[in-house]
Amino acid sequence: MLPSQFPRHLWPLSIHFSRQRLFLGGRDVAELGRELKTPLYIYDAATIDHAIAAYRRGLRAWPGRGLITYASKAWLSLPLARFLARRGLGLDVVSPAELAIGLRGGFDADLLHVHGNNKSFALLQQAIDAGVGAIVVDNLHELGLLERMTPVAPVTLWLRVNPDLLAPTHVYRQTGHHGSKFGMPREEALLAARRIAASPHLRLTGLHVHIGSQIFDLAPIADSVDRLIELAVRIEKAGWGKIKALSPGGGLGFPYHPDDPAIPLHKLTTDLCAHAADSWRRQHGGPYPTLILEPGRSLIARSGVALYTVGAIRRLSDGGRIIAVDGGMNDNIRPALYGARYTASLARAPLGDAVGPARIVGPLCESGDFLIEVVDLPDVKSGDVLAIPVSGAYQLSMANNYNGMLRPAVFLHDHGRLIPMQRRETIDDLMRRDIFDAN
Ligand SMILES: Cc1ncc(COP(=O)(O)O)c(C=O)c1O
Repeated sequence: MLPSQFPRHLWPLSIHFSRQRLFLGGRDVAELGRELKTPLYIYDAATIDHAIAAYRRGLRAWPGRGLITYASKAWLSLPLARFLARRGLGLDVVSPAELAIGLRGGFDADLLHVHGNNKSFALLQQAIDAGVGAIVVDNLHELGLLERMTPVAPVTLWLRVNPDLLAPTHVYRQTGHHGSKFGMPREEALLAARRIAASPHLRLTGLHVHIGSQIFDLAPIADSVDRLIELAVRIEKAGWGKIKALSPGGGLGFPYHPDDPAIPLHKLTTDLCAHAADSWRRQHGGPYPTLILEPGRSLIARSGVALYTVGAIRRLSDGGRIIAVDGGMNDNIRPALYGARYTASLARAPLGDAVGPARIVGPLCESGDFLIEVVDLPDVKSGDVLAIPVSGAYQLSMANNYNGMLRPAVFLHDHGRLIPMQRRETIDDLMRRDIFDAN
């Protein structure tokens, strides 16, 4: 691999490299892996701040107020919640636990937005008691639950609309088409708006759409925004609510692999906000509502690096290698779930000459337990540390304990300091929920 071919744009801003060493914030990554043990995840604060700045830059193309709301499903922990809350972001939560972590991490309740396609009564009650900024109603069943509640103060609702659009992404990440479990089709959304207007304790103030994730082509997201604004006009004309919040969701793509499109994030966000502004001006013409951008992946993915230690290496007769590392589909299920592609770097030779293709697999009892289907790597030896970039989103949040694997430790690199965010799971953690009398 020539220096010019090191896919710099996939790595955190604080990564630097020489021919024989990979550094994160001045620390040798191979040594970090040995010292702190692997599997290990390190997030880079500067890279998260860079992504936030790209979103803020994009929001300048929206004439009204803008808000960045982090989709906590990408990964949430108390320290990350605090990090983001201090930067003035909002938080999209889906479960009682995400809601509790957000609040405890320091988010003001009114910056929390509660999503999900099957919210329980308990979650709705918890959200109302906490005084969240908005509950995003996904369907009429949920609206029925809300209608039957008796809150002391009016409850602010947004509607999640299903625009019947197919996002150009993996089928498991499409959420805005006919037949998707998410969101209300237009006629249902109009009915919901009418019912909310008739309720003494519910207020409709916003519309939301999210057509999927890992989308590089803005056209379908732009279409979904147009449909949302058309609906806003209908609802306001009927007198069923004043739309003060408009959200095109998240979903902007981020490259994981050198072959993926590498469109600067500020360009995607600027184009999206400019389109939304133009559409609002053309279709509505009134004062601009708050535009809420709801990124998960594009805000956090690049900041995360996963480190693994190499164990068994199998050499195949066709020259290929199967390189087994100490983590797999337990901490990163994305390759098995929807064929996600990654690249990797040998921490002691990031620019070393590749000796051929390798498949990076985990230690678990599944043939689908792999991290990378094919990657060119130098001569790798047992004990080496491999680093996989773009590991910040939808990995740890989907991590599991298959085969009794323990969830990795997580650190934050913040301008030269390594701050622990989550300790490694222990065997005792795994047994903690078991109801068992040893006698
Ligand atoms: C409602 C909603 N908003 C935002 C997101 C974040 O999407 P992404 O991580 O692709 O930005 C998701 C993810 O699925 C979502 O369901």
